[in-house]
Amino acid sequence: MISQNILKVENLSKKYVSGIIRTIMTIGVLNVSFELKEGHVVSLVGESGSGKSTVANIILRFIEPTEGNIFFDGKNILKMNKKKYYRMVQGIFQDPYSSFNSFYRIDHVLKQAYSYARPNYTRSSRQKEFIDILTRVGLDPYETLGRYPHQISGGQLQRILIARALLFEPKLLIADEPTSMIDSSSRAGILNLFKELKQEYNITILFITHDIGQAQYLSDRVIVMKNGEIIEQGATNDVFLYPKESYTQNLLNCVPSLYRKWN
Ligand SMILES: Nc1ncnc2c1ncn2[C@@H]1O[C@H](COP(=O)(O)OP(=O)(O)OP(=O)(O)O)[C@@H](O)[C@H]1O
Ligand SMILES: [Mg+2]
Repeated sequence: MISQNILKVENLSKKYVSGIIRTIMTIGVLNVSFELKEGHVVSLVGESGSGKSTVANIILRFIEPTEGNIFFDGKNILKMNKKKYYRMVQGIFQDPYSSFNSFYRIDHVLKQAYSYARPNYTRSSRQKEFIDILTRVGLDPYETLGRYPHQISGGQLQRILIARALLFEPKLLIADEPTSMIDSSSRAGILNLFKELKQEYNITILFITHDIGQAQYLSDRVIVMKNGEIIEQGATNDVFLYPKESYTQNLLNCVPSLYRKWN
């Protein structure tokens, strides 16, 4: 089966302007182009400040690009209705705590999302889906639904956010360092969950990480960024076994035993 392109990013640039008289310009990303094929996991790697979150935030339409276009299923995302867009494209972020309002219990959080995701729902179908989806992400729904965010661990909260995203039945998940703020014992579980989601639901995932090991474990393809630009991209094994750029080699050297064939 030939996978179709689900997302096409073309010559994307973002220049941030800041300062009191708006004279300070920072390059967020510069002339970035890549494609995501349906059902692939693609990792975006690079050191801090290389522009990974800027790419994610533009795709998620939190910020507008200075130049360039993004096409989702062939349509320019900036011209799509946002509500419809978020039924197809969902984000998972670094800090699960900041994604929750501490006054609301988990069932309220999921109900809010559900009313956006399925405007014509019935109460019984909603309850059944909450139970199914929480079970799917490895949580006990009966314990989880009545709790407040502070009564739940970071790893479990991240699973709830994944469940919330899944309620939308998205085609594309943008995960921006989803494991970097949770304890290491929960990390592997979350990574495996992403892997299973790809296999079970054929979801396309753009996985942003500092961690080359995670990128290697999860992804079909890798995109390496440096100072806002893509310096190399390709199939995971090609990029990590035979890196063309010394920058990629240096990233790999930070991982003790993974990929050393080029030495
Ligand atoms: N709102 C902003 N205003 C000004 N500059 C910004 C803004 N957001 C990001 N930048 C700059 O854009 C560049 C890319 O930032 P970005 O957050 O995309 O990097 P990143 O690769 O996600 O880094 P990290 O791995 O630390 O999350 C950096 O130089 C950053 O300082
Ligand atoms: Mg970032």
